Amino acid sequence: MPLCLGGSVVNCYPNAICLMTPVSSLEFTADELRAMADLVVARCVEHIATAGEQPSCGNVDAVALCRAMREPAPEHGTALGPLLDRLFTEYIPRSLTTIGPGYLAYIPGGGLYSAALADFIADTTNRFTGIWQAAPALVQLEANALDWLREWMMFPSGARGLFTAGGSMATFGAIVCARERHLGPDIRRGVLYTSDQAHHSVAKSARLAGIMPDRVRAIRSDERYRVDVDALASAIADDRQAGLMPFAVVSTAGTTNTGAVDPLDEVADSCEREGLWHHVDGAYGAFFYLCDDLRGVLRGLSRADSLTLDPHKGMFLPYGTGALLVRDGAALRAAHEAAAAYLPAAPDSDEFYDAAQYGPDLSRSFPGLRVWLSVKLFGSAAFRAAIAEKRQLALDAWRRVRALPGIAIDAEPELSLFAFHLTWPGATRAEEDAATKMLLEKTTARGRVMITGCTTKGRVLARVCVLSFRTHQRQIDALVEDLTASIGEIVPSRSA
Ligand SMILES: Cc1ncc(COP(=O)(O)O)c(C=O)c1O
Repeated sequence: MPLCLGGSVVNCYPNAICLMTPVSSLEFTADELRAMADLVVARCVEHIATAGEQPSCGNVDAVALCRAMREPAPEHGTALGPLLDRLFTEYIPRSLTTIGPGYLAYIPGGGLYSAALADFIADTTNRFTGIWQAAPALVQLEANALDWLREWMMFPSGARGLFTAGGSMATFGAIVCARERHLGPDIRRGVLYTSDQAHHSVAKSARLAGIMPDRVRAIRSDERYRVDVDALASAIADDRQAGLMPFAVVSTAGTTNTGAVDPLDEVADSCEREGLWHHVDGAYGAFFYLCDDLRGVLRGLSRADSLTLDPHKGMFLPYGTGALLVRDGAALRAAHEAAAAYLPAAPDSDEFYDAAQYGPDLSRSFPGLRVWLSVKLFGSAAFRAAIAEKRQLALDAWRRVRALPGIAIDAEPELSLFAFHLTWPGATRAEEDAATKMLLEKTTARGRVMITGCTTKGRVLARVCVLSFRTHQRQIDALVEDLTASIGEIVPSRSA
């Protein structure tokens, strides 16, 4: 039934539901609540339904728009309809189409609808999940979800975890645990090791945790972009010799540049020998551990002292869900435990989970519901199948792309990411770099797929990363067609 709130009708939608200004109360009637939610859902569903038709790279040339958007806080409210209108027609299209099936750029996410529903429930019920006593059953759901991640990653039952805003914050939490366990107050002498291919969040997290850049070693990687364990061993020895205190190694299960997986088992051996904390950054790659055929590539992952996971990547959830697992749950708790006389504790801290005792936040959103609802709704098998499909699609893409004229593969897909550049006889490095950049631009400009590059070891690389749950064979076919067409355009213009 059409519903209008307030005086005359402005900007009504097809179902003639609108909300008029001024809004005099912060509370709404049940009918008004329903009407507003219907309006939002209609726009969101339309947005999802057309995701495949939206250009793979939205129009982000928006400096003038951003300047024009600045405004003081309005004294009076605006109707919901026009606000949504502006959001969906003017602002959202001015962004990368990260939910689109053709998004093969950076490390794709996805945005499962189940998570949006979970957020809606979490935000409307607005329960307090920072401490067990305030919402025991809801906190248990979150503990269950963390426990499922623990089982998938084959961590022992004594492990504990935390949902974070993303992979960066998970790595930060891990470094804090390692620092507390190995250095205590003697922070300044502590040295952390990672590779020259590690995500920049590792150095940033170290700095936030009090480990300054001159105590972070970026160990060289080999020709496959994997950390060189011999170089790691000698760096540790040199630092010990110099009177410093090596305390942690951060290796990567799937680097952002080329998808390389460090030799996790060998790094775990070194850490065991040297008495160091081994953290694995699995923000991109950890969920590939669900694929039986990739357990070998990721061997050693489950031996880590701690692991970063990004459900907003490998579980296809919307941005804002990272996770940390720590093998010795007591270490995670010890690093964050804090008591307040006004807050009740859980009856048994071993049995019942208190998020605030395992992470920095007290008041917090309810990230566990996103994961819990999604896994309950689809089942683990659906996630396993989806991640395995991404792997197969990446293999198919790699086999076809490497056969294209002028393509040289720099990194084969260890998981679902591969890297390559454009070359031809007699080309200089600068010419190859320029042509590879042009290949990225031209392919993306066709609007069906978006790919991005990186510069590593002095070379510009193009990369394809398949990780969106919406990416299927059609997009891989489009990728190969559009790369082929773009190469055809670049080659004559280059030799002209
Ligand atoms: C390997 C790796 N580690 C860490 C991160 C940081 O994760 P987040 O953006 O969730 O903080 C990323 C992001 O792409 C990544 O690819």
